[in-house]
Amino acid sequence: MPDVRAWYGLFDPTGTKMKITSAEFVRSAFDRKHWITDGRPEIAFLGRSNVGKSSLLNSLLGRRGLARTSNTPGRTQSINYFLINDEFYFVDLPGYGYAKVSKSMRSEWGTMAREYLSGQTAVALMVQLVDSRHEPTELDRQLNDWLIVNQRDHIVVATKSDKLSSNMLTTQLAAKRKLLSESKVLPFSSSNAKGRDEVWTEIERALKKT
Ligand code: GTP
Ligand code: MG
Repeated sequence: MPDVRAWYGLFDPTGTKMKITSAEFVRSAFDRKHWITDGRPEIAFLGRSNVGKSSLLNSLLGRRGLARTSNTPGRTQSINYFLINDEFYFVDLPGYGYAKVSKSMRSEWGTMAREYLSGQTAVALMVQLVDSRHEPTELDRQLNDWLIVNQRDHIVVATKSDKLSSNMLTTQLAAKRKLLSESKVLPFSSSNAKGRDEVWTEIERALKKT
């Protein structure tokens, strides 16, 4: 007889189909030498500084403080690897477009991210985050163009959906789907976890292909 707790998903802290048995921080990489290249597939989180990358990652895993989040943009400055179920990595990348960091730091971001994007071959899915409240920035559009032109498997996650009324969210999503017309755009909130299952479905789909 199945355990009744299983019917309510109580074994799974995220409440999603993907059962997280382990999630651990493995390494921060500041340059190519320190990338992980053990062949396990990677799910990469990319987007403007402060858009909610680390929060999305924590929410997907049901682990509140695993990736550090902050009100201060520019919190994540290295490429951070988290090993999930001993099977695949979540990779939290530094945010782009934060005007207040120094020029040299900005160009360092550019170099590091560009190298990772074009050089890392084990990425099963690129998750591009945009703020659901705002029009995608120039850098958001450049990154999206790059993903399309290079035919990288990716999704766009529109974060902080809890900050919009449902009418406004519908309007904003329609605008994003029009602008980023070749990408799948999914709304998400790490405050109420709405959209988490849909994001997991895409991650699982991409992992199955590896
Ligand atoms: P960097 O590491 O600086 O690039 O930022 P990040 O993209 O990792 O953003 P982070 O997850 O640290 O979130 C930035 C701020 O936005 C924090 O104060 C979060 O609590 C807040 N935040 C993130 N996601 C959401 C969301 O879905 N809803 C709300 N209301 N706030 C959010
Ligand atoms: Mg971060």
